[in-house]
Amino acid sequence: MKHPQLTLISLLFFTSAIAETFKNLDSHPQFPCKPPHFSSYPFCNVSLSIKQRAISLVSFLTLTEKVGQLSNTAASVPRLGIPPYEWWSESLHGIADNGPGVSFNGSISSATSFPQVIVSASSFNRTLWYEIGSAVAVEARAMYNGGQAGLTFWAPNINVFRDPRWGRGQETPGEDPKVVSEYGVEFVRGFQENRKRKVLTRRFGDGVVDDDARYDDDGDDGKLMVSACCKHFTAYDLEKWGNFTRYDFNAVVTEQDMEDTYQPPFQSCIRDGKASCLMCSYNAVNGVPACAQEDLLKKARVEWGFEGYITSDCDAVATIFEYQGYTKSPEEAVADAIKAGVDINCGTYMLRNTKSAILKGKVSEEQVDQALLNLFAVQLRLGLFDGDPREGLYAKLGSNDICSSDHRKLALEAARQGIVLLKNDHKLLPLKKNHVSSLAIVGPMANNISNMGGTYTGKPCQRKTLFTELLEYVKKTSYVSGCSDVSCDSDNGFGEALAIAKGADFVIVVAGLDLSQETEDKDRVSLSLPGKQRDLVSSVAAVSKKPVILVLTGGGPVDVTFAKTDPRIGSIIWIGYPGETGGQALAEIIFGDFNPGGKLPMTWYPESFTDVAMSDMHMRADSSRGYPGRTYRFYTGPQVYSFGTGLSYTKFDYKITSAPTRLSLSELLPQQSSHKKLLLQHGEEEQLRYLQLDDAMVTSCETLRFHVRVNVSNTGEIDGSHVLMMYSKMPPVISGVPEKQLIGFDRVHVHSNEMIETVFVIDPCKHLIVANDVGKRVIPLGIHVLFLGDLLQHSLSVEL
Ligand SMILES: *[C@@H]1O[C@H](CO)[C@@H](O)[C@H](O)[C@H]1NC(C)=O
Ligand SMILES: *[C@@H]1O[C@H](CO)[C@@H](O)[C@H](O)[C@H]1NC(C)=O
Ligand SMILES: *[C@@H]1O[C@H](CO)[C@@H](O)[C@H](O)[C@H]1NC(C)=O
Ligand SMILES: *[C@@H]1O[C@H](CO)[C@@H](O)[C@H](O)[C@H]1NC(C)=O
Ligand SMILES: *[C@@H]1O[C@H](CO)[C@@H](O)[C@H](O)[C@H]1NC(C)=O
Ligand SMILES: *[C@@H]1O[C@H](CO)[C@@H](O)[C@H](O)[C@H]1NC(C)=O
Repeated sequence: MKHPQLTLISLLFFTSAIAETFKNLDSHPQFPCKPPHFSSYPFCNVSLSIKQRAISLVSFLTLTEKVGQLSNTAASVPRLGIPPYEWWSESLHGIADNGPGVSFNGSISSATSFPQVIVSASSFNRTLWYEIGSAVAVEARAMYNGGQAGLTFWAPNINVFRDPRWGRGQETPGEDPKVVSEYGVEFVRGFQENRKRKVLTRRFGDGVVDDDARYDDDGDDGKLMVSACCKHFTAYDLEKWGNFTRYDFNAVVTEQDMEDTYQPPFQSCIRDGKASCLMCSYNAVNGVPACAQEDLLKKARVEWGFEGYITSDCDAVATIFEYQGYTKSPEEAVADAIKAGVDINCGTYMLRNTKSAILKGKVSEEQVDQALLNLFAVQLRLGLFDGDPREGLYAKLGSNDICSSDHRKLALEAARQGIVLLKNDHKLLPLKKNHVSSLAIVGPMANNISNMGGTYTGKPCQRKTLFTELLEYVKKTSYVSGCSDVSCDSDNGFGEALAIAKGADFVIVVAGLDLSQETEDKDRVSLSLPGKQRDLVSSVAAVSKKPVILVLTGGGPVDVTFAKTDPRIGSIIWIGYPGETGGQALAEIIFGDFNPGGKLPMTWYPESFTDVAMSDMHMRADSSRGYPGRTYRFYTGPQVYSFGTGLSYTKFDYKITSAPTRLSLSELLPQQSSHKKLLLQHGEEEQLRYLQLDDAMVTSCETLRFHVRVNVSNTGEIDGSHVLMMYSKMPPVISGVPEKQLIGFDRVHVHSNEMIETVFVIDPCKHLIVANDVGKRVIPLGIHVLFLGDLLQHSLSVEL
């Protein structure tokens, strides 16, 4: 979201607008449709439809005024009483000031900083994801009311975490397209809607996991509390690696990978999440810059039902010409983007080049009008043209709604639920509170708040480090950084670290990554701990009285094989970027006040994975060229920790209590059903091997859904939450079938020595599918093996 070329014009413009705002005390001195002079336009008439109002608004504008709307910093139209509007605000895991739309200069000086997305994702808790979206939306509206934020936010980031080196993997919900999809839907729903999440399906004991039945769309004519944006469309997940940069990278993607890895999160975010914005990315996809991808952008509107605006990433229209060299002139870049469906450009490129593009006949004014209709429709749905903001539905939200105790508790809950226990030999953890007389904390991240939230962090409500929170539990806690920073280039500080380690009852070493290693515009080249960190960990472990507790920070996986196998390292806890309450969550887990239940949402690869070119977008393994594949679905090489790893202080057992053993798809055959477009396909042999879903619109087949009932018991001594993960392994009837694929997950809480029931609803057209080599979804016929965790298997024969 930042670009070296981004001109300062928009930023300067904005700064003066803000200053103006505060001089006036009133946060919104000017608002569209302000009485008495500006309220009688048809676009102000709330009795008219959004579409009619948008058409009216466009009809009043001159060409110059129209072009002035095509930047994130949209110009004012003084003669119509329309003030400037800043489209670019950020809210990835709390309100962040990366964009010019948000400012913490004002009566609101902080906002709740939730854990980075990869951490919240590790909770595998849909309710939590939705609630985070809702809480951030409340803070967003409150900041808007204070004149400190816009209403259009550019989150979530739903690119699949394809490569462990990716600097922005931390911003995503991990590597599995289904998990990423569901996170996106929950966050967007929570964010855009002003209502409680409707749990329509909690009927069987604790839960039914049903993707389709979670929301009840009662007609709300598309009103938005705030607007969310699904980004970055598409196949974007490389910052700067080798000779590649995100600005000039051409992602070469097969149709198969596109259909069942890269696109599903976007399809869900739009179709099920009903996101009101889509952001196209810098990179090209198969030779065409993403912001000039007419086929893909149109598909989103036509096939996925997208209603909203499409923005470019910042200066991603400029890059079409300047970096990708895809067009011969700036005007053609602008024209290609607008014709492809881009409505607004982050940056000034469209502002500067659209008029001449029209004069040169590269794009028509009518095509610009279409973009404006999309933009105004979103502003209208947000209520921006409904009159005085002090009287609107959300007018009461203000500084009391920011950093509220509810929101901070939710941030704490997210950190607790997301932190992952990776190793716990001989039950080293939890430590018994009254049996620890002294604690030593070592590591450069342990007493530094600045990177606790990862990228896109605003100003947290509180500033407590891991060390200060641990101090709350044990008075005699000492701290030494060991290395001067995370890069850890020198062992000069090791002596001090060893000294406090030797003297303490227990030792916690905090190692891993911060944003100096992985961030926007920066990928890693190694998966090992930075610099001499490994030596620090091992040498501290060697002198400590008892096995040490290793706490790992960072969003990307780290090859900690040495720690996994070292008996002097008793426990390993991954905290990612746990946000402002991360220290408390960690301390609670270490001392047993919270029983961890998070699971890794991404594969942890060994260092040898760095032999794979990051620029290779293939998901599927290819042994003919020694390519190991990517993510748990396709990767065939050794792993440090696998997707779904995560321990608890208690033990869970489960059994499948009911599930069908055969499933007939015969009703999907065209002659027998209304699914006329489902075509029967077969291979070279006479035998039928799969059913192909030819119609992209067929995304579920309700009548064929079936239930898998599972009983989960907690057989240990401590209450706890457990993430059930149901996978399927399908028959290899076509090439490129995954090793296994997550088809359902549910986080359940089970008291010690109790049992609960959970029910997975499986939809064959959604869950038992794979894309073939031309990107058509097929349901393989034959035995699908359903797995629960690693142990439990159930065979399902899928037949005609
Ligand atoms: C608003 O639109 C409605 C429906 O077309 C119309 O009846 C009404 O007169 C309009 N109000 C104003 C103030 O123009
Ligand atoms: C916010 O305030 C600080 C210090 O008062 C100042 O340096 C900064 O420029 C201000 N930022 C904006 C966006 O007004
Ligand atoms: C980068 O480019 C140089 C010069 O063209 C080439 O020698 C090198 O192999 C490239 N590196 C990678 C990682 O592709
Ligand atoms: C905290 O970390 C940041 C980012 O690495 C660094 O700039 C800063 O100097 C550190 N602060 C302390 C007190 O070590
Ligand atoms: C899921 O998250 C919600 C919201 O924080 C929480 O109330 C609930 O207990 C969580 N569920 C489990 C099983 O942990
Ligand atoms: C599964 O759990 C349900 C609800 O707790 C219980 O009624 C049922 O008897 C259990 N079934 C088995 C086979 O344990």
